[in-house]
Amino acid sequence: VVEAAGQQLDRLVRVQPDFPQPGVLFRDLTPVLADAMALDLLARALVAPAPTATLVAGIEARGFLLGAVAAMSLGVGVLALRKPGKLPGEVLSESYDLEYGAAALQVHPGDVPADARVLVIDDVLATGGTVAAACRLLRRAGAEVVGVSVAVELAALGGRAALARQEADVPVSTV
Ligand code: PRP
Repeated sequence: VVEAAGQQLDRLVRVQPDFPQPGVLFRDLTPVLADAMALDLLARALVAPAPTATLVAGIEARGFLLGAVAAMSLGVGVLALRKPGKLPGEVLSESYDLEYGAAALQVHPGDVPADARVLVIDDVLATGGTVAAACRLLRRAGAEVVGVSVAVELAALGGRAALARQEADVPVSTV
């Protein structure tokens, strides 16, 4: 299911050289999101590996779009894993390294049920730092992370291997 969806959706991904800076080949998913059938296919492919998840977590910002449609497809709710300063209540925070500097993701622990089985969703897996931080954050909030699904994997950046070193028990699926 996932592989067939990926083959159908691949032609809709816009590949833009030298964006946002020279030398970077940017994969733009906006044409996929704008196509109703493609969006439905992507949502179903993202959740197919984790049919028993009870909650989806989408990572700011583009992971919010995919996380929400995936949650609807699975019939569960969605958690927004946010960048700092966006959530009004008491938060848990998990930092991760960027190429230059650091970033963090936050969640309201009160939004995570005690027995939650969470599927983490993002648009792109690059170095894996963002998704790894999401997994740590959700576990600290008391959840079990049952999988990671992304639309696009930039395999040359080694995110899958980096994640496997940190999150050996979490299966990773790419559409
Ligand atoms: C991008 C992308 C992923 C992350 C992947 O987000 O949407 O979340 O980078 O990179 P990694 O695997 O190397 O951690 P970005 O930080 O650009 O934020 P945005 O979605 O808010 O633009």
